[in-house]
Amino acid sequence: MKIDLKKIIFFSMATIIFILIRQQSHFTEPNYKNIEIISYNLVNKHGYSVEILNLGGIISSIKTPDRSGVFKDITLGFTSPKQYLDEHPYFGAIVGRFANRIANGKFELEGKEYILAQNNGPNHLHGGALGFDNVYWEVDTLENKNGIQLSYISADGEEGYPGNLSVTVTYILTDDNTLKVKYEAQTDKTTVINLTQHSYFNLSGDFSKQILDHELQLFADSYLPVDNTQIPTGSIQLVADSPFDFRARKEIGKDIDIKNNQLEIGKGYDHCWVLNNTKKDLVKAASVYHPQSGRMMDVYTDQPGIQLYTGNFLDDTLPSKTQGTYGPRSAFCLETQHFPNSPNVSDFPTTILKPGEIFTSETHFKFSVN
Ligand code: BGC
Repeated sequence: MKIDLKKIIFFSMATIIFILIRQQSHFTEPNYKNIEIISYNLVNKHGYSVEILNLGGIISSIKTPDRSGVFKDITLGFTSPKQYLDEHPYFGAIVGRFANRIANGKFELEGKEYILAQNNGPNHLHGGALGFDNVYWEVDTLENKNGIQLSYISADGEEGYPGNLSVTVTYILTDDNTLKVKYEAQTDKTTVINLTQHSYFNLSGDFSKQILDHELQLFADSYLPVDNTQIPTGSIQLVADSPFDFRARKEIGKDIDIKNNQLEIGKGYDHCWVLNNTKKDLVKAASVYHPQSGRMMDVYTDQPGIQLYTGNFLDDTLPSKTQGTYGPRSAFCLETQHFPNSPNVSDFPTTILKPGEIFTSETHFKFSVN
C-alpha cells in the first residue's frame, strides 16, 4: 500500500488546528463564577438605602425606618454576595426574559414553535435555567447619582427565546423614599417579554417572623385561578366572596388557611391578580402595612397584573441574613407583570415584542411610616 505523506501531514495539521480551536473556544466561554460581583449602594437624604448587585440586578438589601426611626433591612437575601451564586428562589432578582410560568415550556410565535426549559414541573418558570436573575449586568451610575442603570443583551436563542434582546433596568431611589424600577427592551426578531422584580419583603425586618400579620390591599377586582401545575386556567375570576378579596385592607393571614382548592395548589397565595388598570397608566396596585413597626409600602405599576407570592415554598434550608433560616411565609413578593402563560393565551394582554418597538414598563415601591 502506498503511503500518501502529503495527505497524512494535511490531516494531522487539520486535527491539531481543530483541537486548538476547540480549546480556545472552551477557554473563552464565559465563566460566570469568576466575574467579580459588585454591589452598589443608593442612599437618599433621609437615610433610606437600597443595595443592588451586578449579578442578576439583585436587590440585596432595602433599609427603611420604623415609627421610632430604627432602620432595618426589610428584604430577604444573603449576607455575602457570593451566596447568590448558589441556587435560591430568585431573592431580589430581575426576572426575565419571561417572568412566571409558560405552560409545558412551549409557545408558538409567527407559526414557529419555541421550546423552553421545563424547570418547574412540566412548565417553564422565570426565564429558564439561566434567566436574567443569573447573568451579570453592565452597570452605569446615573449622572445625579441617585440611581443606576443595568444593561444586558440576551442573545438570540438564549434559553430558547427568539431574537437578540437588549434590556435596561434602571433603579432610582428618590428623596420621597420611592424606589423606581424602569424597564426598557428592544429586539431584532419578534419575541415575548415579561419582566419583574422578585424582592421578598418582610416589613418587620425580623425574618424569623411570618408576614401573616401584614395588612394588604390589592387594587384588583379579579384574579387568575390556576390548574394543578399553577398555570392560569384562562378564566378571570372575581375576588368577591373569596379569600382572594383584598379590595379592602386585610391581614395576609386572615384567610390564607381557609379550605380552598386554589390556596391548596399554591400552599397559600401564589396567584396573579388582574389590576383595575385598563389604561396602562402608572397607578397604585398594592399597599402593605405592618402595624407593629408602622412600616408601609405602596406599589405602583403600569403592568396589568401583580403576583402575590407568600413565600409558601421557603422551607428553612437557606440561611437568614439575621439568624436561623428562611421558613414558609417569612416574606411576601408583589411581582408586577403581565399574566402568566400569556404567549399561549390569546385573550390575555399581549407580551409580544416586535423589531422596531420599544418595550417599557415601570414599577415604584414607595416606603413610608404610619
Ligand atoms: C412563583 C412561585 C415560586 C417563586 C420562587 C414566584 O414568583 O409564583 O411559585 O415558587 O416565585 O421561584
